[in-house]
Formats: sequence, structure tokens, C-alpha cells
Amino acid sequence: MAMKIIFPVAGVGTRFLPATKEVPKEILPVLDKPLIQYAVEEAAASGLGDFIFITAPGKEALEKYFAPNAGLDEFLARHGKERLLDDVKRFYGKKITYIRQEQALGFGHAISLAEAVVGDEPFAISLPDDLILSERPVMTQMIEVYEKYRSPLIAFMKVPREEAPRYGIAAGPMLEERVFRIEQLVEKPALADAPSNYAVIGRYIMTPDIFPLLRRGRKGAGAEIQLTDAVVELMKKRQVLGYFFEGRRFDAGTTLGYIETLVHVALRRDDTRDFTRRLLRGLVRDEKL
Ligand code: G1P
Repeated sequence: MAMKIIFPVAGVGTRFLPATKEVPKEILPVLDKPLIQYAVEEAAASGLGDFIFITAPGKEALEKYFAPNAGLDEFLARHGKERLLDDVKRFYGKKITYIRQEQALGFGHAISLAEAVVGDEPFAISLPDDLILSERPVMTQMIEVYEKYRSPLIAFMKVPREEAPRYGIAAGPMLEERVFRIEQLVEKPALADAPSNYAVIGRYIMTPDIFPLLRRGRKGAGAEIQLTDAVVELMKKRQVLGYFFEGRRFDAGTTLGYIETLVHVALRRDDTRDFTRRLLRGLVRDEKL
């Protein structure tokens, strides 16, 4: 099933200032690739090729990143750097629609802007801050579950309870291994109000009936229009499912999570694994640290 996929990339990136003053946080490199490229490659690996980026004023670098750069191509070709040339050309000609979110009204609002482009079909959403390393791409896993139940579906992982206030948190009965019916859902609850330690991770399959609920524009956590709140409304009309994905998620949207992301990506790549292992072993052995 080839669905469109929305990448909300309009956030200001305050956690990475001043680096993100001129450079969108999604362009920050994880080794030699920008964060956004991991999310786009993950979607492409699931057979998705129709991308919608919700950007914001000041994020032009993101639009340029996936567009041809004739000067660079010519330079690489002239210097015989074929592999690098293939790398930079990888996303030329992909179908990407850019939509501008002029005001920072929230994640739910960002999604609502894609209504006309998405049309009357189920669609996917991917938050690039959540970098997921897995054997089978997460969207491949989720599309399989969607095709079985035909219900909107949200990715989940269990987190330490004290971290619940950072996430959307849900609870509900398991329907099968990895799949549960969401009965309660709350965006960034106070610790005492968290119904479980099941945390929303930024991968979703939504159905178009979410759009009228987003359009109502009610403000929720952080005085922003939240997708989570629209999903709570949707749950009054139809079943919404949670899915504990196979794989490991890294929070590249915080500085500590970013360090963890870099180390794990480096440990998984053939050209950086040995060096990183030696480095880490050496650091552990060095008692002065
Ligand atoms: C968003 C969602 C939240 C989810 C989180 C996962 O929040 O609103 O439900 O748990 O992504 O990363 P954000 O981190 O953008 O504030």
C-alpha cells in the first residue's frame, strides 16, 4: 500500500540553539547524513515515495537539501567522486510537496495543513526527531497491521515511568502481540496522571477523518493544537490502535539523546564500528574520566 507520508519539520529547534539559528535542526548531521535523511530513507525503504514536508519560514535549507545542486554535481563528477555523487543525487526527482506553516500553532495544526494534498486516503506521519533503527522498517511493520485492522495506528514503546510527562501516553488492552486498543490517551500528562508507561513515538498511520477534528483547532498541552487531542476525539467514533514496533528508537531531538544517537549509528556502520568500539572501550578503561 503506497500512502503519502507527512514529515512535520516546522519546529524552531530551541534545544539546539545556537546551532539551529540559521540551520534547521533536521539538517544537523548524524555522522555524515542529516537527520531528515534517516526519516526519508526509512520511509523509502517501506515503499513510500510521496513525501509532504510541513516547513516554516526560515527553513529554506531543508527545501534546498533535496533539490539538485548543479555546481556540486559538476564538481564531484570532475573529481571522480562517483560514490558521493550517487549519494547527493539520491533524492533528486522524488515527489516532495512543501507546505509552509506560517504560525507555530502546533503539531496537530501542521498536520491539518496537509489535508488538501493528502485527500481521501489513509496517510503516514513521521517525526524525524525519533530516529528508529530496526531490521524491518517501522512503516513496513505498521502498514501490515493497518491492512489487517483498517484502524488508525500509532507507534509505541515502553518508557521509564518518570519520563511519561515528555510523551503522549496511552493505555488499553492488548489485542495480539504488539497491538493494543487505545482506551486512554493523554498528551504530556503530569506524572501522577499518566495512565501507563506506553509512550507515543513519532510514527503514525492516520485516516482522513482526523482532519475535521484537527480543524476545530482546540489548544491542548503547551497551548498548541495537538494531534493527540484530535485522536482522543477520533476514538469516540472508531477504534484507534497502538503498536509496539520492533526496533530501537533514539531521541535525536535532545542533546543527550543526540549523543546516544551518534554513538549507536556509529556502532552499526561498517566504516565506523571498529573505531567507535575502541574509542568507547578506551574511555571506559581511562579512570580519569
Ligand atoms: C510529539 C507527540 C508526542 C510524542 C512525541 C514522540 O511530541 O506530540 O505525543 O510522544 O512526539 O517523540 P514532541 O516531542 O514533538 O513535543
